[in-house]
Amino acid sequence: MPTVIVDGISVDVRRGARVIEACVEAGVVVPHFCWHPGLSPSGNCRMCQVEIEHNGRSREAVSCIEPVTEGMIVRTATEEVRDARLGVLEFMLLNHPVDCPSCDCAGECRLQDYFLDWGNVAEGSRRETPQLHKPKRQAVGPRVMLDSERCVLCTRCVRFLEEVTGTAELGVEERAALSTLHLAEGRELDNPYSGNVVDLCPVGALTDRDFRFTRRVWFLDRADSVCPGCSRGCNVEIQFDLRHPHKSAEPSRRVLRLKPRYNREINQWWLCDRGRYGYGGIDEGRLTRVLIRRDGQVTQTDWDDALDEAARKLRSVSDRHPEQLAVLFSPQMTNESLLAARTLFVDGLEAGACDYGLTGEIYGEEDGFLRRADLNPNRRACELMKLHRGAFPHGELVERIAAGEIRALVSFRADLPELLGERFPEVLSGLKLLIVCDTHERRWLDRPDILLPVAVYAEQDGSFTNFEGRVQRIHRAFPPAGDARVELDLLLDLAGRVGLKLGFRTLEGAQRLLAQELEGFGEIDGASRSPASRVAKEAAPR
Ligand code: SF4
Ligand code: FES
Repeated sequence: MPTVIVDGISVDVRRGARVIEACVEAGVVVPHFCWHPGLSPSGNCRMCQVEIEHNGRSREAVSCIEPVTEGMIVRTATEEVRDARLGVLEFMLLNHPVDCPSCDCAGECRLQDYFLDWGNVAEGSRRETPQLHKPKRQAVGPRVMLDSERCVLCTRCVRFLEEVTGTAELGVEERAALSTLHLAEGRELDNPYSGNVVDLCPVGALTDRDFRFTRRVWFLDRADSVCPGCSRGCNVEIQFDLRHPHKSAEPSRRVLRLKPRYNREINQWWLCDRGRYGYGGIDEGRLTRVLIRRDGQVTQTDWDDALDEAARKLRSVSDRHPEQLAVLFSPQMTNESLLAARTLFVDGLEAGACDYGLTGEIYGEEDGFLRRADLNPNRRACELMKLHRGAFPHGELVERIAAGEIRALVSFRADLPELLGERFPEVLSGLKLLIVCDTHERRWLDRPDILLPVAVYAEQDGSFTNFEGRVQRIHRAFPPAGDARVELDLLLDLAGRVGLKLGFRTLEGAQRLLAQELEGFGEIDGASRSPASRVAKEAAPR
């Protein structure tokens, strides 16, 4: 491991690392546009220049290209380095539009930051030729807008599309001052990872079409979570704003965007478009009322009434014919809710059968990169907790319901008409009790005896287990919509009314039990055993 001294600070860095990485490891800020640890070095912006002394000789060097060698002395704050950076900055700003007040990237733009850091570039503009203008507001794909005038030609987006997705939709044409980012002929930026170019762009040249002009970024609050879009479990940051209803078409939209969080083992810096833009369901079409069916009439009620009724009916079935009680768990539920549901219904009420994930089965696209075919975040936990029980093969629960062997069903988030097909009305008429917990309105939700609205992932604390068995924490961004409750809370409440103790009363208690009891159940946030290095964090979307 070579040892390098950066501004008087000694750091050991891996062999083959670039000087800029040594600077970041030493906690020294080196301004940069084109360098990104997830992409090949390009060295085109020249912003990262430093002074290097080695073997008694001093020289200026581009730090993102220069490999470290033993005994290097790096200086990042000399007069010469400062002059070199100012020259680059002045050159970049020569034709850059001065539109920060109206730029959607204000607050997250490196050019803006560096200009503020490094002060006025020159005493007024030294430009002697008319300002160059380039195309503005080009929709280069369904998700991404390009403003070529703001582009600093760092080629991060170009390299991402060549090196990571291999789709090469963007390139640079012309030379020198006329160089312009452009779409390859006849192409559209529509690959499944297209949104990542927005995170990579260090200025406001590439912006999200669905986020542009919805909020200023400094109004956004943030919560760490895990994408529920498939079993990979990519780490995300939920960015939301509860304070400023916007005059846009969706004034009630709380989540404004999702950004990837760096996790070396899972998603590194990236996120697929389905996960990134899949936040609409957090606020749209939500089930927000507790409903109960009495004398054939469905009416709104409160939680006390609904849970008392559910407890009474469940106890009655369990006392007489527990084999007639079945539970459908959902691989969308958190680990802790699954444990509570299993302990209550299977261990406590002795349900005769249970199964999971009968809808939302494998139908997504899998590509060997991030996207997994299983569109559920927590099927692995269902497997580890053995939530498929009863003397029948996986999936036969439906047959048992249809055959009338099951007379009481508790269903979590299952789309029963899809599951049961044409037999749905016939099966429903054979059930004496149907309790449904769901997150979203569905056309058939006037059919259950008791309908309980539950929280989506952004509204709760807990954890998911990804397909590899990594257990990762999710954090609540905001309270559940309407009257919805977190499944874990309502199950603890229901257990009390049924007269059962689950062995834990809190989320942390459930997590302790999971860690102790379940063979193969990983340590929570196991992935954080290799926390993001300073170098990786430096490149995280801002
Ligand atoms: Fe770099 Fe952004 Fe221009 Fe792409 S659009 S070359 S990421 S400045
Ligand atoms: Fe080093 Fe661009 S040349 S960051």
